[in-house]
Amino acid sequence: MGVVAALADHGSDGPGIGPLPFSVTPLIGRDSLVAGVAERLTLPEIRLLTLVGPGGIGKTRLGLEVAHAVREHFPDGAHLVRLASVSDPSLVPVMVARVLEVRGPIDDPRAWAIVRDRPGLLVLDNFEQLLDAALSVVDVLTHCPHITILVTSRVPLHITGEHQHQVPPLRTPSEDVDLDLATLADTDAIRLFIDRALAVDPEFRLTPDNAGAVVRIVRQLDGLPLAIEPAAARSKHFSAQSIVDRLALSSEDLRGGAIDRPPHQRALRNTIAMDHVGKCSRSLGDRERAWACHRESLAWRRKVGDPRGMAVWLEAMAGLLASCDAFEEAACVLGAVESLRERGAFPVHTHERAQIEPTVTLIRTHLNADRLAASWARGSLMGLPPIVDLVLVKAERAVSALGAAPPAQPPAVPVLFAGVRLTPREQHVVQLLVQRLSDKEIATRLSISPRTASTHVTAILGKLGVRSRHDVARLAARAENGADAQDQSPSGST
Ligand SMILES: Nc1ncnc2c1ncn2[C@@H]1O[C@H](COP(=O)(O)OP(=O)(O)OP(=O)(O)O)[C@@H](O)[C@H]1O
Ligand SMILES: [Mg+2]
Repeated sequence: MGVVAALADHGSDGPGIGPLPFSVTPLIGRDSLVAGVAERLTLPEIRLLTLVGPGGIGKTRLGLEVAHAVREHFPDGAHLVRLASVSDPSLVPVMVARVLEVRGPIDDPRAWAIVRDRPGLLVLDNFEQLLDAALSVVDVLTHCPHITILVTSRVPLHITGEHQHQVPPLRTPSEDVDLDLATLADTDAIRLFIDRALAVDPEFRLTPDNAGAVVRIVRQLDGLPLAIEPAAARSKHFSAQSIVDRLALSSEDLRGGAIDRPPHQRALRNTIAMDHVGKCSRSLGDRERAWACHRESLAWRRKVGDPRGMAVWLEAMAGLLASCDAFEEAACVLGAVESLRERGAFPVHTHERAQIEPTVTLIRTHLNADRLAASWARGSLMGLPPIVDLVLVKAERAVSALGAAPPAQPPAVPVLFAGVRLTPREQHVVQLLVQRLSDKEIATRLSISPRTASTHVTAILGKLGVRSRHDVARLAARAENGADAQDQSPSGST
């Protein structure tokens, strides 16, 4: 983009410079986060604060909210520089100088004298692809001792004086706890869903009938606002349960939504859609599709230079490696990611730690402690580029090898259950029940907690009107043997 285009103020979501825009939708949740960031930003010892988090998590939204909240502390006002569609790092100082009304050659410190005594707040939005311009941020801080800078970026700038603040996903309801409707409706991710659903359907309400499906949607989408918005917008045409079912089969519902999002977020929505299909495919046992999707998810994170994102997808792919019996490779990948985290290459969210547990459990059941430790240690000595290369090559091979084998089909609903509505996840659990797997084994197979597995089992028993897991397997066996299952009354508990 040229200088003129970069400097033009294109309104609230376009590139450019100008005053802080006001949002057209209410901010959901984030009260304590706004207060916490605002407090840090007004401390004299903090002059550069970076809001860090994955794409679509709400950094820009939060940054603008915080900037509005603290603007009274800055007599010279708050200035916004939008960088999402700027690719040339040399434009950063030009845009900053322009918004601060610096006159004269920007590489001459005397030109900055005009702002030297003006206490102002500068918001640099979407810095991630301009890390080469980080030193010009240092220049601004040294030329202008009363300027405070708030940056939003998917990755930290890693410069002296930088303070970081992680932006977490919107709160989602806990999976293992039964919550009443009022509590659910007050959970941030669900509030966002309801707000966006109401925008397209004024009659939309959270009810006992649709609450379970809405919870599943926001949990499946990891509380990511950029993904929840388009999914909720489908409420115009579909029930929440239909949205769950559709999300399990296709990512189309995540690609739509408001058309005024900046271009980088339209690309991001495609990636989020790819992530989602990969996760669904994995939980449905469609490894071929999961490998193909995960490969794209990882490659995209490598392309945009997002180490935290790479770590998340490396761990997901370690799970796939383990499910394909490549236990040593899986341990090696987990070892590499763990050592990168320990070296502070990127922040860790606590919920991410729990996600690798099923993979580690699976590896442990097949590798003895010495081999596990050796593979883990081998990985911990590898840097990020070689481990990503290794996994992408594995993915390539896995896709072609699995492609040659009969494609893994999403589990079919046994004939017996034709008249009963089971979610795709429940269908899969039924198949595992038929194989006589315990809750713990089901949990490992589906990468979920044993508690969640038993919740699914209880729901299935209820829907099928039987009293024990063995009834499910018995009835399915009868159905396979040609008995008219619909006429069978469930046998007693065992
Ligand atoms: N707390 C919130 N309340 C309401 N809407 C939100 C909230 N957080 C995010 N959103 C909405 O979610 C979408 C994505 O948020 P935002 O653009 O701030 O993400 P981001 O982290 O800056 O993404 P990127 O890294 O792509 O720039 C926007 O439409 C935004 O308005
Ligand atoms: Mg942003």
